[in-house]
Amino acid sequence: MARITASVFTSHVPAIGAALDLGKTHEPYWQPLFQGYEFSKQWMKDNKPDVVFLVFNDHATAFSLEMIPTFAIGTAAEYAVADEGWGPRPVPKVIGQPDLASHIAQSVIQQDFDLTIVNKMDVDHGLTVPLSLMCGQPPASNFAWPVPVIPFAVNVVQYPVPSGQRCLNLGKAIRKAIESYDEDLNVHIWGTGGMSHQLQGPRAGLINREFDNAFLDRMIADPEGQAAVPHIDYVREAGSEGIELVMWLIARGAMGDLAGGPAPKVVHRFYHVPASNTAVGHLILENS
Ligand code: DHB
Ligand code: FE
Repeated sequence: MARITASVFTSHVPAIGAALDLGKTHEPYWQPLFQGYEFSKQWMKDNKPDVVFLVFNDHATAFSLEMIPTFAIGTAAEYAVADEGWGPRPVPKVIGQPDLASHIAQSVIQQDFDLTIVNKMDVDHGLTVPLSLMCGQPPASNFAWPVPVIPFAVNVVQYPVPSGQRCLNLGKAIRKAIESYDEDLNVHIWGTGGMSHQLQGPRAGLINREFDNAFLDRMIADPEGQAAVPHIDYVREAGSEGIELVMWLIARGAMGDLAGGPAPKVVHRFYHVPASNTAVGHLILENS
């Protein structure tokens, strides 16, 4: 049986990718941010899963505003790194896990969630920056990401976006799907995006440390309470792009305590401001 052993939560700022790719991680502006992920890179090496189920959002890169799936699961064998305007990041292509992804699609759709099936997709900073933060940068030209990834894209770019409650319930369905897969696989589920930030309009640059830290607290101890928070509260309190945080509830909903198990263990918590226009938050939870 496949099982979810841990969840990882992290922001995904594009400038973090640029800092890594341009060798700026030791500059005074960036050093405290990357310091917060040193633990995580070691933890990832020590607890390497067989697959990462990676919840992220596309930023009108693979999906244009012509077609906007609310939830899309990647069932491809591999994913190219997207060109977001400056050429693709110099990181490896992402290897998929088509067999488990197809099983999850079957199970989750039969649990009444309407997923879009994606057989070809270029992945943008929403997916590659979390991978870089957790797995490090290519030290050599033959570097490959250490794990296959099932990309799961959520629309948080164009309204209407899914509610927190629906995201939490979807996470529970994903957990059931993974646990009904025959092969004995160790799976991590990641929730990415956020934290507070607004990239446009008169409130551009908005950061709300109080909201962000209360969100981290509730992600640990009260995900059901957080799921009841309406999307307008995220936008008001955490900025227009702060709505990316609802994606964290998908990963959190897949953790064991929401299926009657013990509370997860908090192995790492980190918060840092600023990174570009964004507050960066990061959590690692392990199922007991
Ligand atoms: C920025 C872009 C993002 O997609 C995001 O989630 C955070 C920050 C940016 O351009 O700074
Ligand atoms: Fe984003």
